Amino acid sequence: MTGDRIVLGIESSCDETGVGIVRLGADGTIELLADEVASSVEQHARFGGVVPEVASRAHLEAMIPTMSRALEKSGMTLDDVDSIAVTAGPGLAGALLVGVSAAKAYAAALDKPLYGVNHLAGHVAADTLEHGPLPSPCVALLVSGGHSQLLLVEDLAGKITEIGSTIDDAAGEAYDKVARVLDLPYPGGPPIDKLAKTGNGCAIAFPRGLTGPRDAKYDFSFSGLKTAVARWVENRERDGLEIPLADVAASFQEAVADVLTGKAIRAIKDLGLDTLVISGGVAANSRLSGLAAERCAAAGITLRVPRPRLCTDNGAMIAAVGAHLVAAGAEPSGLDLATDPGLPVSQVQIL
Ligand code: KG4
Ligand code: ZN
Repeated sequence: MTGDRIVLGIESSCDETGVGIVRLGADGTIELLADEVASSVEQHARFGGVVPEVASRAHLEAMIPTMSRALEKSGMTLDDVDSIAVTAGPGLAGALLVGVSAAKAYAAALDKPLYGVNHLAGHVAADTLEHGPLPSPCVALLVSGGHSQLLLVEDLAGKITEIGSTIDDAAGEAYDKVARVLDLPYPGGPPIDKLAKTGNGCAIAFPRGLTGPRDAKYDFSFSGLKTAVARWVENRERDGLEIPLADVAASFQEAVADVLTGKAIRAIKDLGLDTLVISGGVAANSRLSGLAAERCAAAGITLRVPRPRLCTDNGAMIAAVGAHLVAAGAEPSGLDLATDPGLPVSQVQIL
């Protein structure tokens, strides 16, 4: 269609190699055409966490096959692509380099503009692929393996402000560590979520970090919760008692969901806003989305959670940020684009 632009997105910040393709309509609509992901998660499982060198090597091997699958799914060829977006940070240094190098090669070979974008903005932009444009401003709760942040989102192409973040572990990291304590596989989110369904979330009163009257209103802390779960399990074992795994999982999950939703809703009320977006890998958690739905409904807040496939790392969310930048007329990044493993969320693009 005339005026439409095809934006390709490449993601390689952690253990997922993602290639997504979207169509940016002349009216600003963004349509998802392809979202292909290759994961190296199984190669990391026995280490209980992502091994950076293994992830980089896996990205190298998966990049071209994932690109081919995405093009095939979308019915496009490389010649149809108008712009290329790539995750330039934050993430693992070596992993980011593979995606950025690939994106530069495609941009140079096709003579198309390149946009180095922020992975965290991508997690929020993922929701626009499912639910359309975001009201501005709104609050986003970004919860993944590496990040737990409350964001004030005014413009996905440029104005995202952090209003709170974790002072220690990310929510997903807490899931992964607690899974280890319970002898569950890595990554820990999905097996804990499943086990918790058969347990009682009120069985054990695990601590809710940073929820005292003097604590930072919008910051999170999950390290104490993780330690409390480990101690509780150790004490039972020492006393020769059986561990009620489902109750431990459900009670841990309840503590995480309670704090995350409580603080997000408080931020929205304090700011006088009406929409909450939850994204990132932990947004796939059934209790988090369930409790958020209950509390948002009670508070008259609109809740938006992308489907689980769009919550975890993928290339479509990066293509979506690229499309927002293209629509806003942003200047492309140079072919000398550098990665930034510690890129702050306030910087949506690296030039
Ligand atoms: O966003 P993501 O795919 O990668 C990062 O950018 O970190 O998030 C991965 C994290 C892992 O810690 C994983 O345990 C967690 O998301 N996760 C979940 C669920 N599915 C994935 N946590 C809780 N419940 C889930 N259902
Ligand atoms: Zn992520």
